Amino acid sequence: MRKLAILTSGGDSQGMNTAIRTVAKAAMNKGWEVYGIRRGYKGMLDDDIFKLSPLDVAGLTGKGGTKLLTARLPEFKYPEVRAKAAENLKKRGIDQLVVIGGDGSFHGAHYLYEEHGIKTVGIPGTIDNDIAGTEQTIGFDTTLNIVSDFISKVSDTAKSHERTMFVEVMGRNCGDIALFGGVAAAANGILIPEVEWKIEDIENIVKRRRANGKNYNIIVVAEGVGNTHEIAKELATRMPELDIRVSVIGHMQRGGAPSANDRLLATKLGIAAVDILDKGEQAGVMVGIDRNNVSVHKLSYAWENYSSKNNKDFYDIAMMLSV
Ligand code: F6P
Repeated sequence: MRKLAILTSGGDSQGMNTAIRTVAKAAMNKGWEVYGIRRGYKGMLDDDIFKLSPLDVAGLTGKGGTKLLTARLPEFKYPEVRAKAAENLKKRGIDQLVVIGGDGSFHGAHYLYEEHGIKTVGIPGTIDNDIAGTEQTIGFDTTLNIVSDFISKVSDTAKSHERTMFVEVMGRNCGDIALFGGVAAAANGILIPEVEWKIEDIENIVKRRRANGKNYNIIVVAEGVGNTHEIAKELATRMPELDIRVSVIGHMQRGGAPSANDRLLATKLGIAAVDILDKGEQAGVMVGIDRNNVSVHKLSYAWENYSSKNNKDFYDIAMMLSV
């Protein structure tokens, strides 16, 4: 009997549950025995591995969070830790593993395949969209909806009070949430780690908007840029006439029901992951989406080819529209 385990690892993202459900159902449909691992690699190490029944994965499609729980395990970078974790799969006869997570999780899956022959497939699940080999990661679309809704609401009050509002968003070292969420909500300034900026740039935007009769400003800051409160202070020093506030969205960006797009993405990629394992020709790979088709790359492609997805052109468009 073929056996497959599923885990979610790293920061959770909306749609992880959809992916769990899809992978489990597709594998059960092939007659495989399916296992869940709690808390990602931590559960694999702690032997927290249990058989999943169809009921365990029922009703998950639209649920936020991850039913399998998640964790970060920095110790997984040590070969002896991975060996101990791999042993817990092997003793059950599990030699197939689907890992739903981000860049760090893919590193773990890569080494489990290279060192222990566990047939791994990675499904990109992170709100950050910071993985090469896929145009979008699962959760990114939902987060953009949350961020653009938040910015629109903040814009209402900024207009009423004629204020300058800084909105800090997540994304680690990637500016995609800030850039695409900012454009979707017509932000006036967007600061992302991939594009150099100076405080004078914001000052100029504010001045140009003022000349156009616009006395409020929304500046979106990706967390990877630095301390938003410090940036706001710097602007306040240069333009003391401004009434400035800072809003940090925080973890609500990772919560709530996945968007329809994230559910569909998770479903497509979940099916593809099981198909790859079923064919048995490839492992140590990730699945992604490329112009609406599923793409397959080696797991290492995710970090070796990551270059912030060349957003400079789109950034210039965003800035053109900002004033
Ligand atoms: O990787 C997802 C993410 O939400 C990042 O955007 C953010 O920097 C980080 O996780 C926050 O991590 P934690 O939930 O551990 O505070």
